[in-house]
Amino acid sequence: MNHADVVLRGYRPQDAASWVRCRALAFLETQYYDDVHPVRTQLSEPSLALVAVDGEELVGLLDIEIDGTEATIDSIATHPDHQGRGIGTRLLQHALPTLTARGVHTLDAWTREDAPANRWYVRNGFTERYRYLHVYLSAQDDAAGFTTPEGLSTPVGAFMHAAVEDEAALRQRYRRVYLCRQYLRELTAADRRTTS
Ligand SMILES: CC(C)(COP(=O)(O)OP(=O)(O)OC[C@H]1O[C@@H](n2cnc3c(N)ncnc32)[C@H](O)[C@@H]1OP(=O)(O)O)[C@@H](O)C(=O)NCCC(=O)NCCS
Repeated sequence: MNHADVVLRGYRPQDAASWVRCRALAFLETQYYDDVHPVRTQLSEPSLALVAVDGEELVGLLDIEIDGTEATIDSIATHPDHQGRGIGTRLLQHALPTLTARGVHTLDAWTREDAPANRWYVRNGFTERYRYLHVYLSAQDDAAGFTTPEGLSTPVGAFMHAAVEDEAALRQRYRRVYLCRQYLRELTAADRRTTS
C-alpha cells in the first residue's frame, strides 16, 4: 500500500459495516479483545468522526466526543494490516484543527497496557494523567464474596473497576487485571494548522 493512497474523510452511514469490522480486527489483538461492538456507538453531539480509506477499504477510524472545552477519543483503530504506516497519526493530526476551531482545550483517551497504543499516545504528545484498574471475574476465578439477586447463581463473569493501590492483591486473585491509563493532550495554537 502506498501511504499517499490513503485518504481521510468524515464518517458516512454507508461506512457502518466496514467501520465495525476494522475496529473489531484492530481490538482483537489488544487487551480489549472482547470489547467488540456489533454496531458503531452513536456519538453524542457535538462530535468528530473520521475514517481513513484506501480505495474501497476502510483502514482506520477515529471517533471523538466533545464536551465544551474537553474532548475524548471514543475509538481509535487502524486495521492490523495497515498499522505502523502513520494512519493513526494522520487521523489525529487531521482532527486537531477542527477541535481547536470548536474551542476544545484538551483531548483525552483511556487505554489499557498494550505497548503499541501506549507508545502511540506518548509519541503523539499525550501524557498520563490518571490510572486505575479494570478487573474481570472469569469462570476460572473464585467467585467467593460476590452476591447476586435471589434466583441467580454466583456470577460466571463480571467486570469491575478498582484502585491501583489494590493491584498486587487483585492480580493474585483474578486472572484478568489491567491497568487503565488516562492520557491527556493540551491543544495549543500549533494544533490550529490544517493537515491532510
Ligand atoms: C494505536 C493505533 C491506533 C495506532 O495506529 P497506527 O496507524 O498503527 O499508528 P501510526 O502508524 O501513526 O504509529 C504507529 C507507529 O508507526 C510508526 N509510523 C508512523 N508513521 C509511519 C510511516 N509513515 N511509516 C512507517 N511507520 C510509521 C510510528 O513511528 C509509530 O511508532 P511507535 O510504535 O513507536 O509509536 C493502532 O496500533 C491500533 O489500532 N491499535 C489497536 C486498537 C487500540 O489499541 N486503540 C487504542 C486504544 S483504545
